[in-house]
Amino acid sequence: MFYDQVLQATKQIQSYAPLTPKVALILGSGLGDLARDIEHAISIPYEDIPHFARSTVVGHAGRLLLGKLEGVPVVAMQGRFHLYEGYPLSAVTLPVRVMYMLGAQVLLVSNAAGGVNPVYRAGDFMLLRDHIALPGLAGANPLIGPNDERFGPRFPPLAHAYDADLRLLARTVAATHPELTLHEGVYTMVAGPSFETGAELRFLRTIGTDAVGMSTVPEVIVARHMRMRVLGISLITNMATGDETEEIKHEEVLDVADAARVRFAALVRGIMRGID
Ligand code: HPA
Repeated sequence: MFYDQVLQATKQIQSYAPLTPKVALILGSGLGDLARDIEHAISIPYEDIPHFARSTVVGHAGRLLLGKLEGVPVVAMQGRFHLYEGYPLSAVTLPVRVMYMLGAQVLLVSNAAGGVNPVYRAGDFMLLRDHIALPGLAGANPLIGPNDERFGPRFPPLAHAYDADLRLLARTVAATHPELTLHEGVYTMVAGPSFETGAELRFLRTIGTDAVGMSTVPEVIVARHMRMRVLGISLITNMATGDETEEIKHEEVLDVADAARVRFAALVRGIMRGID
């Protein structure tokens, strides 16, 4: 049973690392370097954890780290799983269940995203205020299938998925860092892995998208199923308004993420210091 798989993975991790994390971190494309800041980290490759999938994407290391960040016990995924890798959404989101079972009550999830809002610039950050789950609305929702009430209800609400207090905290931290531009907007998940056409991007803009990416939403849905508090942060790695003349490449996404490393670390560290 799925619940037993989650328990097995949790127990295995606890046998490596006797630490009860408070915050779960998912480090998105190119943002995994933050893992280096985790103190006294115990690092567990995904292949050593039962039922974990493997990271197949460049820029996603594929290990779980447990340690402290600004004194806060954390568990961090350095590398995540995506729908486009061919994994079922149960596998994409199993680590979120496991991190919750380890004790994490807060999920801080990050990603690289395209800036659909024309005001945004590559290198800016965006807090997720809300999301549009395009695959989810169309039938790829991680909660499809039998519901296990031990995790949460059959029909969980998502109206307030992104915690208002955590967003306020993030904005307060950003205000003390003039080198950091932090927007707040709507993230739309697409399945990928092909990037969007111009017409698709104009469609996404029309429906209220500020940033577009290929991850995060399944993890957030599962976290909210379990009533975790969620903070989502996108790094805008490229403009995706539909009017671009240059073609976007994954390497470019990783380069911009690498250049944003120090600012991302400052933001997350500040958030950790203020988390209650
Ligand atoms: N589209 C989809 N996903 C992305 C993009 C994009 O432009 N940039 C980074 N992830």
